[in-house]
Amino acid sequence: MKAILTRNIWAPAAVLLASALCAAPAAAQTERTGKEVVDAQCSKCHLEGKGGAPKIGDRDAWVQRLKKGLDATVREAIRGHGGMPARGDKADLTDREVRNAILYMYYPGNAPK
Ligand code: HEC
Repeated sequence: MKAILTRNIWAPAAVLLASALCAAPAAAQTERTGKEVVDAQCSKCHLEGKGGAPKIGDRDAWVQRLKKGLDATVREAIRGHGGMPARGDKADLTDREVRNAILYMYYPGNAPK
């Protein structure tokens, strides 16, 4: 009797705990930081300013781009813009990762991690 009671109480808690433990690291691993995305992809053009790409950390150049608003700039980067390929030519980037990458290129010292 006692054993059954104990199991009934703890079984749902164990399931909840197990799913929480499994979900947390998976989410942390899939989102790449702005720096990771830029180092892996955007720097191919944005480091040297290839094709007129605003350079990483060149705040004057980025301010001109960001005048239309961060959201609009993120949308342009997702859609593609002149010589800038859609999602920087890395189709698996999430919208948030593109946004983080743009913030990092605007101000590498102070981008959200
Ligand atoms: C193949 C080269 C290339 C790669 C790779 C690349 N860019 Fe660009 N990017 C450009 C060029 C060229 C421009 C300037 C385009 C223009 O204004 O006509 C640009 C412009 C931009 C702009 C400004 C758009 C605007 O609205 O003015 C953003 C934002 C941007 N890139 C973000 C990124 C991000 C984020 C990545 C990485 C995920 C990335 N780019 C990767 C070439 C590249």
